Amino acid sequence: MSNPELLSDFGAADGGATILAPDLPARAGTRRILLWDLPLRVFHWSLAAAVTTAVVTGELGGAWMAWHGRAGLLIVGLLVFRVVWGVVGSATSRFAHFAPSPGRVISYLRGRWRGVGHNPLGALSVFALLGLLSLQVATGLFGNDDIAFAGPLNHLVDDASGARATGWHRLLADGLFVLLGLHLAAVAFHVAVKRHRLIRPMITGLQDVEEGTPLPPRQRGRSGFALLGVVALAAACVLAVAGAGEVPAKAARPIAVQATAAPPTSQPATPSAW
Ligand code: HEM
Ligand code: HEM
Repeated sequence: MSNPELLSDFGAADGGATILAPDLPARAGTRRILLWDLPLRVFHWSLAAAVTTAVVTGELGGAWMAWHGRAGLLIVGLLVFRVVWGVVGSATSRFAHFAPSPGRVISYLRGRWRGVGHNPLGALSVFALLGLLSLQVATGLFGNDDIAFAGPLNHLVDDASGARATGWHRLLADGLFVLLGLHLAAVAFHVAVKRHRLIRPMITGLQDVEEGTPLPPRQRGRSGFALLGVVALAAACVLAVAGAGEVPAKAARPIAVQATAAPPTSQPATPSAW
């Protein structure tokens, strides 16, 4: 197989892509490109796993809330990573590459858009998903379940604000279910009806595109150090948020009177399980 055309220097650290991809030549009239860099793919599947865990544990409640908080903290780190990667990552990962304008959306709807990566309509859903997930974690961090679990920042706000954050958290979860349903339905529609191969590129990074498809310029000069820096920043944010929850017991507000009547499976009443 000829080497895929790289849109990023991160392709160099991406040897796995060619191993994971079946050894097939690009079809006649197409060229093979590395569409999604490895960090973006790891981000996507980690986010999918963490959000699924957060949804399931949030619905289960009780003793599962400790895992809910851990999954939520992982999502904090993933979102920080994605925001910075949207600025310094490889071409198709950059927000500037796929930022949707009304003109681009209209041209896509009229069937006139040509390009690689998120199409203008898909880009709208990407921004909506990332935005809603950010609000979801932000409200969760300040919320509590009125039993024995509190987000690590809950002790920084008064009871009324904590309750409001929790209310928003529950409401936003419903919005998130709708967006996630749309996301999966859109992917299924493109794959089953329009015969677009979307899922394989999100796994291997590789995609065959028609000759003449406009490609974004390759981003040069990026090194593994940039990636390490972004990962370190994301980890530092997670540690800072988790650390804020490590308050001395006397500084932590009791969550609710029910804490003493919590079932034996519940966590301790101070937000310290970080
Ligand atoms: C809770 C589960 C999921 C979440 C939160 C999620 C979230 C996202 C996000 C945020 C993006 C944009 C990637 C970027 O940052 O640029 C994306 C793209 C994508 N996702 Fe998911 N995803 C989930 C599950 C899935 C599943 C189960 C599949 C496939 C079976 C899938 C297939 C894709 C594909 C193919 C794209 C790229 C779409 C395109 O080419 O424009 N996702 N997803
Ligand atoms: C994107 C990430 C998250 C998702 C998808 C999510 C989802 C959910 C869901 C579905 C529930 C159940 C709501 C209900 O009872 O109807 C819930 C509850 C809760 N979540 Fe999250 N959550 C996330 C992140 C977080 C984070 C980061 C924290 C704090 C560390 C947190 C704290 C809570 C609390 C305190 C509750 C209990 C609220 C109640 O009493 O119902 N969540 N979450």
